Amino acid sequence: MEVIVCSAYQEMSVQAAHEVSKVLNTKPNAVLGLATGSTPLGLYKELVRLHKEEGLDFSQVTTFNLDEYVGLPDTHPQSYHYFMKQNFFQHINIPPQNVHIPSGTTRNHLAFCAWYERRITECGGIDLQLLGIGSDGHIAFNEPGSSLGSRTRIKTLAKETIQDNARFFEKKQDVPIYAITMGVGTILEARKLLLLASGKSKAAAVAAAIEGPVTSMITASALQLHPNSMIFMDKEAASQLKMRDYYQWIQDNKPGAPQPEP
Ligand code: PGA
Repeated sequence: MEVIVCSAYQEMSVQAAHEVSKVLNTKPNAVLGLATGSTPLGLYKELVRLHKEEGLDFSQVTTFNLDEYVGLPDTHPQSYHYFMKQNFFQHINIPPQNVHIPSGTTRNHLAFCAWYERRITECGGIDLQLLGIGSDGHIAFNEPGSSLGSRTRIKTLAKETIQDNARFFEKKQDVPIYAITMGVGTILEARKLLLLASGKSKAAAVAAAIEGPVTSMITASALQLHPNSMIFMDKEAASQLKMRDYYQWIQDNKPGAPQPEP
């Protein structure tokens, strides 16, 4: 796990976007796993800037989103379909047929989830998966207790998540209680994982995920099992890490980086 503590949200967003653009520059037809939420907004903004100002090309890219609320149609302003269109897809040149987001309105969850998994495999697997982290330590909607081998499925949201997400809805009762989400096992199959965390409210979850045991009670801790994961965060999200000096030392002394003159 590579832990990168950035001075602020903006720097984190730009650095993380740079990792995405590196993947696209080496593999223009990469398969990206995408995340929603307030944390990746700055990253999407920077990717849109790179597209508009520096020609970053999405014409061959395929995407798979992590999750969607059950019961919200694509046009609902709080659906993740709507979020992705507003904040990313409508600003770049990705062909609409290359975009995959779990359906919030399917009547056959089992068949849909099986199809979603099959589609990821047919497209060659996910090259880079973006992730946020919940204050309860979840990745996607894999709430505490989700099997670390779980696959795409319907999941009941934790009360803490419903509370966290209530800010986006008029009333707390409007927050859906189910979602379709990729599983932890699905996520771990991506070739590279890039998790973003911002703000003090994530500090405890971030510390547990990075420095605590691997446990289904903090599904983000499953990143410890992945051979190629990066965790970008701002100072506030890093505030409960015990080994922070060491992570900085690693960043300052990367193998192959130019060394100061003796
Ligand atoms: P947030 O959500 O980016 O809106 O904080 C992250 C998550 O719950 O995964």
